[in-house]
Amino acid sequence: MLGKVDSPSGLSKAGGNPFTEPMTDAEIADTIQAFATAAADAKRLGFDAIELHGAHGYLIDQFFWSGTNVRSDAWGGPTIGERGRFAAEILKAVRAAVGPDYPVIIRLSQWKQQEYTARLAETPKEMEAWLQPLADAGADIFHCSQRRFWEPEFEGSDLNFAGWAKKLTGAPTITVGSVGLSGEFIAAFGGEGSQPTSIDNVIGGLERGEYDMVGVGRALLQDPEWVTKIREGRSNELKAFERAALGTLY
Ligand SMILES: Cc1cc2nc3c(=O)[nH]c(=O)nc-3n(C[C@H](O)[C@H](O)[C@H](O)COP(=O)(O)O)c2cc1C
Repeated sequence: MLGKVDSPSGLSKAGGNPFTEPMTDAEIADTIQAFATAAADAKRLGFDAIELHGAHGYLIDQFFWSGTNVRSDAWGGPTIGERGRFAAEILKAVRAAVGPDYPVIIRLSQWKQQEYTARLAETPKEMEAWLQPLADAGADIFHCSQRRFWEPEFEGSDLNFAGWAKKLTGAPTITVGSVGLSGEFIAAFGGEGSQPTSIDNVIGGLERGEYDMVGVGRALLQDPEWVTKIREGRSNELKAFERAALGTLY
């Protein structure tokens, strides 16, 4: 039987009806401990780093987002700093469990799978209030998920999410989202293909030091040789992403 689903306020989307009870303090404490135990297990088993998923409307992101976190206790509040406490406590517990020298990454996004236009930070100041406490709590690297990495995060600057995260916190960042492809990944689930595109724009950001690493999803799913082809300048051999590549996952 399906157990109770963990959720800050029992809401699956902004303005929705509760589908379950909010997590209790004891459930929150258990969940924080479970993240720490899992991180320690990953280190013991030989993984080089761990990445916490705090993006896309999953549990940690549900705490960040005012649409799914309407708590009035110490795990919620009107500011992103208050709603970030769950993530910060997880990071502190994870850091304590893995020690000071083990890389801890957190994946973050403004957008939610429930609402693509949702935003946690409308201004750089809000973004700093979101990210700095996470860096202070033990995050070494921010993995900044966008559906299209080239979209600027705030008006008046070309910097994307990873660019702003690095500028505001000084931490290394990862950019991701439609690198080397014309269309974004959610359309791919509906069967849409994507044409290969130049990656000069993503390389430009790396060279300018706006971010430090690049995540690639579908292009690699379609073509395991993608990185080799890019490195060797064999751009005429890059393949279009086709729906059939999703089938290679099973
Ligand atoms: C087949 C497939 C499955 C994915 N599954 C998840 C998932 O379970 N959770 C998640 O947060 N993102 C998921 N993603 C999103 C990827 O992590 C990544 O952010 C996205 O594909 C953007 O990179 P791309 O444009 O290079 O493909 C998935 C993407 C694809 C193509």
